[in-house]
Amino acid sequence: MDSFSIGYANIALVKYWGKKQKNPVLPFNPNLSLRLDKLKTKTKIIKSSSNDDEFYINDEKQSKEELSKIINFINKFIPKNREKIKIISYNSLPTAAGLSSSSSGTMALVIACNEYFNLNKSKEELISIAKEGSGSSCRSFYKMASWLEDGTVKEIKSDINLAMMVLVVNENRKEISSRKAMEICVNTSSNYNDWVCKAKNDFSNMLDAIKKSDFKKIGEIAEDNALYMHSTTKKANPPFSFLTNETYKAIDIVKKLRKKGIECYFTIDAGPNVKILYQRENQDLIYKEVKKLWTKKIILCME
Ligand code: ADP
Ligand code: DP6
Repeated sequence: MDSFSIGYANIALVKYWGKKQKNPVLPFNPNLSLRLDKLKTKTKIIKSSSNDDEFYINDEKQSKEELSKIINFINKFIPKNREKIKIISYNSLPTAAGLSSSSSGTMALVIACNEYFNLNKSKEELISIAKEGSGSSCRSFYKMASWLEDGTVKEIKSDINLAMMVLVVNENRKEISSRKAMEICVNTSSNYNDWVCKAKNDFSNMLDAIKKSDFKKIGEIAEDNALYMHSTTKKANPPFSFLTNETYKAIDIVKKLRKKGIECYFTIDAGPNVKILYQRENQDLIYKEVKKLWTKKIILCME
């Protein structure tokens, strides 16, 4: 099999931030996301020409640690007696910078394994496998998806045409992974329990807002939820933050646009980069206005 398998990034409007259970993975709170169709990973698997498994992202050989993380994950569902493989993957988005490369990468990897090893898994089975590799990846299989505390992944249908663009603050690999960061917050943040209560509440309000196509409500909940998630890092022991001065400048741009009557909101994941949420029909206007204020890179995320 020589063709690439594709996986997409997704950004949560209500975040997954902590595992209630590790095997199988269950989130502490229900969460919900929008898929970013232009931010993707393509992955293919070929027979390794060495005596070891190999893992490349964007032609760069990955560390032993990265390799064993990925191989430990796929060994749970691929045949036991197998030849050594080479995983060749390309991310069209920055890797490990808070733009959800873990979800696009894991989705592409799971589909590539399904192809290479002829596993013949259904979409539902692939979704269920994917979340064991990276929790958020299970949501990438649908345009909008929720992942509930009992492990269920549901497609969310909506009449509202949501879109995002990224104000890139820093494309470099973050120092602390999402996995590690959420674990620290679960174990040490003084407001972690409050986060779980709030996120559950945000989730049901978000479902309601989506059902009513109430963009203002969707945006307000998304912003508030993201900020609360980041407050858990500041209340961790020791405290830490993914947000930089540039992140706050990008947030200010969103607020400025809103003051001008342009409807848009922000969300931020485990990294400094800021995503602007808006309705697709306003993209040209928002891009034009943002460009006047943000001189660094901007990524449009929808086809
Ligand atoms: P991000 O914010 O980009 O999702 P995370 O810290 O959550 O960052 O996840 C980064 C991890 O995702 C990487 O260390 C790697 O294990 C995994 N990942 C990224 N890209 C790929 C890929 N193309 N294939 C497989 N796994 C990937
Ligand atoms: C902040 O899904 O990358 O992006 O399950 O440990 O692989 P693991 O974590 P991951 O965490 C995503 C965290 C987030 C919020 C979200 O996407 O919901």
